[in-house]
Amino acid sequence: MKTKILKVLRNSDKYISGQSICDELGISRTAVWKYMNQLKEDGYGIEATQNKGYNITKYPDVLTEVELGSLFETAFFGNKIYFYDEIDSTNNEAKKKAEDGAKQGTLVIAECQNGGRGRRGKKWISPSGSGIWMSFVLKPTIHPYGASMITLVAALSVVSALKNIKGLECNIKWPNDIVANGKKICGILTEMSSELDAVNYVIIGIGININSTEFDEEISDIASSVFLETGLTIKRSQVVADFAKYFEKYYSIFMQTQDLRGLIDEYNGLLVNVGKEVKINNINSQFIGNAIGINDKGELLVKKQDGSVEKVIAGEVSVRGLYGYV
Ligand code: BTN
Repeated sequence: MKTKILKVLRNSDKYISGQSICDELGISRTAVWKYMNQLKEDGYGIEATQNKGYNITKYPDVLTEVELGSLFETAFFGNKIYFYDEIDSTNNEAKKKAEDGAKQGTLVIAECQNGGRGRRGKKWISPSGSGIWMSFVLKPTIHPYGASMITLVAALSVVSALKNIKGLECNIKWPNDIVANGKKICGILTEMSSELDAVNYVIIGIGININSTEFDEEISDIASSVFLETGLTIKRSQVVADFAKYFEKYYSIFMQTQDLRGLIDEYNGLLVNVGKEVKINNINSQFIGNAIGINDKGELLVKKQDGSVEKVIAGEVSVRGLYGYV
């Protein structure tokens, strides 16, 4: 009910009478008053004026179930939201929930992670107040081979969600780093449980540096945040809500064909690798070439010096001029 009240307040231009809230939500005046007090305790600024009603004047920068629930306009994303002040890793928690039967769309989000994980076994530093650390559960009926493409769908959705922030121009470094001014501001960790021919669940874990000003020594040269790039302090919950909206849109396009043919142009348009010299470092091949873009499977097409085109499925791809590869 608190979520519904916050949504009503958010969506009304200015004052809304206590009676309208009662009528709309079918609760008593006393209940409305009680929830308003709770919202004030949560950090929302709420003015109550006689004969006019309630008006919301301030929103705290929080990522709670109530805050996100009041912003989401989604069909399935965040149908269940679990917020934690502190947790080891939202990916671990989302995995547990998926194993316990959580539905597609279940979202786990935390203010702080004390065991945040990055790709290739790296840690992901996730302090309070500085970013968006979230993971969600998907249960797609697709071949396990297709699951890695969802990471690219998520990357596209993050860029779209950040598009509205003034002065911030984001691009994608294949397959799923989000970069601004050549520095990484977001990483995505996709994990999957599957049989040989069917996916049980996919966990998409996203870390976006929003207000971060300090990073671990080893990444301090290559990492940045929305604040460092723009000087702006933004509400993290709005970014999550925008992400949710775009993810649903792009995910449904992806699921129609179970490949990236409907998103390829948009993705390639954002790819920093395109036309650049890249260094591929795979288990079985190392070479330098020129990146062309992705194909509809999400593989990176790289033109080698002998003119042949190689499809890169996975592995470390360094882009000349980015992250120190000069
Ligand atoms: C990367 O190395 O680029 C991927 C980083 C992914 C970090 C996010 S933060 C939320 C989720 N929980 C984790 O432990 N990791 C992911």
